Amino acid sequence: MTERISRQMRAQLDELAPLMRFFNESAWSRRQREDGICDFVAGNPHEPPLPELVDALRSATVPQSDTWFAYPMSERDARHTVSAALRERLGMEIPPGDVTMTTGAFGAFAALFPVLADPGDEIVYLSPPWFFYDSMIRMAGATPVPVTLEPPRFDLDPDAIAAALTERTRAVLVNTPQNPTGRVYASRRSSPRHRRGTAPRSTWSRTRRTARSSTTIAGSSARRACIRAPS
Ligand SMILES: Cc1ncc(COP(=O)(O)O)c(C=O)c1O
Repeated sequence: MTERISRQMRAQLDELAPLMRFFNESAWSRRQREDGICDFVAGNPHEPPLPELVDALRSATVPQSDTWFAYPMSERDARHTVSAALRERLGMEIPPGDVTMTTGAFGAFAALFPVLADPGDEIVYLSPPWFFYDSMIRMAGATPVPVTLEPPRFDLDPDAIAAALTERTRAVLVNTPQNPTGRVYASRRSSPRHRRGTAPRSTWSRTRRTARSSTTIAGSSARRACIRAPS
């Protein structure tokens, strides 16, 4: 009988099988909703949302026009708010026109990887990674390239990142706090420009040369994805 799902999806499912077994069949999956269980598995919040957030969600569900629940695009106000917040909190200049709203970082990466990479192109990520980077990169037809973070500090290793770059590198994925290690990378440390004093000059000239056409994707938190285009 013909397989009803694609070979690439079958390969992904096989790769993710241990994770899915954990989510669906482990003691955690059976007991996660019991009283007194602290569930740290997937970053689920353990505190009630801020009342302001609840109020905003509640008021947004009340239709204010006939098309209130029609398909929204990246709304102007939301783009401006995101752009201003990135400038204010992270010092990143991303004009509103370059902001695209997605349903979470999951949706952002699903849209982003195929936009950045052609088959055979490479996307570098820090390892251990968030569960789905590897498979999402593969599903986009690109090649995932892990750079190992060394315990116990799991610090950024600019030389290791530089060594992973090739002419096919299209993006370097950095997220802070890093998931799953929790390591926070200050922007000073994650920016090649600012590391020149501590990393050998040759490292960064190589980084800049090989990554000329690539992109740094920086998440200010696990749930936000920003692209920092090469300067
Ligand atoms: C590093 C990382 N990327 C992406 C995601 C997915 O984010 P979202 O829940 O916004 O889709 C998560 C979620 O925890 C994450 O930790």
